[in-house]
Amino acid sequence: MPYQNIQVLQDGAVETITINRPDKLNALNQQTLLELSDAFSAAAVNDATRVVVITGSGNKAFVAGADIGEIQELSPIDAHAFSELGQQVMLGIQHLDKPVIAAINGYALGGGCELALACNLRIAGDNALLGLPEIKLGIMPGFGGSQRLTRLIGAGRALEMMLTGEPVAAGRAEQIGLVNQVVEAGALRDTVSDYAERLARAAPHALHGILDAVNKGADLPLEAGLELETDRFALCCATEDMREGTSAFLEKRKPEFRGC
Ligand code: COA
Repeated sequence: MPYQNIQVLQDGAVETITINRPDKLNALNQQTLLELSDAFSAAAVNDATRVVVITGSGNKAFVAGADIGEIQELSPIDAHAFSELGQQVMLGIQHLDKPVIAAINGYALGGGCELALACNLRIAGDNALLGLPEIKLGIMPGFGGSQRLTRLIGAGRALEMMLTGEPVAAGRAEQIGLVNQVVEAGALRDTVSDYAERLARAAPHALHGILDAVNKGADLPLEAGLELETDRFALCCATEDMREGTSAFLEKRKPEFRGC
């Protein structure tokens, strides 16, 4: 599928997806959501990709939200389909069997914040502003924000952000656990790249096991989550990478994981 609104760059094992509508601060219209859906489906089956980074083009915005111009034209039936499309894209990201890092290079508002929430790790530049300001437009989050923000930072803070619509600056976002790390805006690209390279060197089946146990386990009763953990732990022990990792430790050398 040729893309109009996103760019995909493969650099070794790291795939970077850039949302590229800088004149609209990378707002997510329907076309962009379809392209993201396609790109993440492709990343899922691309053996060369071990880690995905998602970011926005320009130095002002990660994503400034769902496209308000499109939202204004939605009938309730269209709105239902638009919300489902956005949620399906976010679920595809959350359940990708490879780590996804959001490089938050500016505004991450509405759908942009929801996109970041669907990623496994969020690294923000110190110019980032994150929020769910939908209330100011007379609407509410529709791409999973009401659910994921609450699970990530707790109902009290999530409700404060959603009911007031006030965004939080990067430093505050780090304090409340909304982002993993804040770095100087100019250092964001290199920091994320280092992070991605590090994850790309890790054992892929073990990464997948952790993602699955945490993402799926979060919605399960403890005993069912523990069972999932046991299954995934046992699967890791069926891999060559487990032999390599444990041997490398005992032989006092660096492991070389091959994903098998
Ligand atoms: N949807 C559609 N277009 C958007 C957009 C969005 N979510 N966010 C920004 N844009 C567009 C603006 O309309 C403007 O387009 P124009 O030049 O054709 O008029 C362009 O992006 C630049 O935005 P602008 O508002 O001029 O930049 P700013 O620096 O003054 O303000 C923001 C930046 C992010 C504070 C402001 O754009 C904003 O509040 N955006 C909406 C955020 C939001 O409510 N998101 C949730 C949507 S559900």
